[in-house]
Amino acid sequence: MANPTLTITDNRTGKQYTVPIENGAINASELAKIKVAADEPGLVSYDPALLNTAVCKSKVGYIDGDRGILRYRGYPIEELAERSSYLETAYLIVKGELPTASHFRMWQHNIKMHTMVHENVKHLIEGFRYDAHPMGILVGTVGALSTFYPDAKNIMDVESRRMQTRRLIGKMPTIAAFAYRHSRGLPYVYPDNDLSYTGNFLSMLFKMTELKYTPNPTLERALDVLFILHADHEQNCSATTVRTVGSSHADPYSAVAAAAAALGGPLHGAANEAVIHMLREIGSKEHIPDLIRQVKNRERRLMGFGHRVYKNYDPRAKIIKQIAHAVFEVTGKNPLIDIALELERIALEDDYFVSHKLYPNVDFYSGIIYEAMGFPVEMFPVLFAIARTSGWMAQWAEMLLDDEQKIVRPKQIYLGYDERHYVPLATRREVEGVPHETEIRGPL
Ligand SMILES: CC(C)(COP(=O)(O)OP(=O)(O)OC[C@H]1O[C@@H](n2cnc3c(N)ncnc32)[C@H](O)[C@@H]1OP(=O)(O)O)[C@@H](O)C(=O)NCCC(=O)NCCS
Repeated sequence: MANPTLTITDNRTGKQYTVPIENGAINASELAKIKVAADEPGLVSYDPALLNTAVCKSKVGYIDGDRGILRYRGYPIEELAERSSYLETAYLIVKGELPTASHFRMWQHNIKMHTMVHENVKHLIEGFRYDAHPMGILVGTVGALSTFYPDAKNIMDVESRRMQTRRLIGKMPTIAAFAYRHSRGLPYVYPDNDLSYTGNFLSMLFKMTELKYTPNPTLERALDVLFILHADHEQNCSATTVRTVGSSHADPYSAVAAAAAALGGPLHGAANEAVIHMLREIGSKEHIPDLIRQVKNRERRLMGFGHRVYKNYDPRAKIIKQIAHAVFEVTGKNPLIDIALELERIALEDDYFVSHKLYPNVDFYSGIIYEAMGFPVEMFPVLFAIARTSGWMAQWAEMLLDDEQKIVRPKQIYLGYDERHYVPLATRREVEGVPHETEIRGPL
């Protein structure tokens, strides 16, 4: 059909409305025209958690959850994981095309020029408590970068946007590594720009007294691939956050700090930590059937299984599973992998998991690899944030340059009191026998 439309009949008035369908969507503002009386507000759509609402048109990432497909700018994730590097993929995500050789050389140079942080940023990190969670340090420090780079406020200037993108991609590993060293009470290690993006990160994390740190090439490549796999995932919670905060024209450091804060929540970027705890709790393969029984009785969830979008094997989980073996050749096997593999085998043969379309997601294996590489679980979301920075910047810039976007301001359905009048404090009645704190029950 050339110009597909939707016809809506309002049974309150008998009126019919024809609404255009574009890209498989109707524009929710068309619903505002549907009203009983001219002076009444029109119809709104109610969609808590935006389960069935497209909030933007995007060209960055594409997911087909039923077929287990993920692409960045059209390129399948499998090809990028096998043949690209994180920095090249970051260029693709941010700029929209793969770089030519000369553009890539320039891009690498531009990122490396920004791996150092101002000494005051270092002092800021030093000020955190010895046991501060590294994700808290990362969120706070990225937010603070806006005070170091006031030029970031020039969000409509392409050169400024490019500069902040380089700075953020360049500095994220440095801040992350300083946060890790802080928690270990170790001196911070400055960047070594002779090394690759991930090689330098490993150096800033793990260098001790040696004059020059040489990263193990297998671990360096494995981390690079993990970064590629986490670089973007279209309109997830943190991408929505960076767009929402950015829509008020806040500077990109504030928007990215907010996105990192969203990522830090256990429902988003910290599920792989829960997987590690679950596998440790299982302890050995004999206990797996018991866990499966608990899951099927709905007493608990199988962490690292299921996904809001993927109703098939998460393509990133397939790739990560392959990397695991290469990593274990270097680090020695993480014993949790045997439990994970057996758990997956049993789950995928079980009717409950098959009928619910529950497959391993990216988090099922990533934590096992990170743990084998020597990362404490608190660092897992921090690693995710480094990789996702390119995706956040691409989503942020796409939002800014989209003429259809405005400051985000959703509607609500108000179910509170109708108008009532102020009663002076002295005349408000105390409730007999009820302690003050419990007098009014509410969320806060
Ligand atoms: C990711 C997740 C939040 C997606 O949830 P969702 O799309 O909102 O799906 P729902 O919570 O509505 O679950 C749908 C059904 O599958 C079941 N289900 C979903 N994930 C499950 C899991 N991990 N273990 C057991 N059952 C699960 C639910 O019990 C529900 O069953 P029912 O319809 O018979 O009641 C969910 O799969 C989950 O909690 N997974 C574990 C945590 C995790 O790995 N998160 C990382 C995501 S990358």
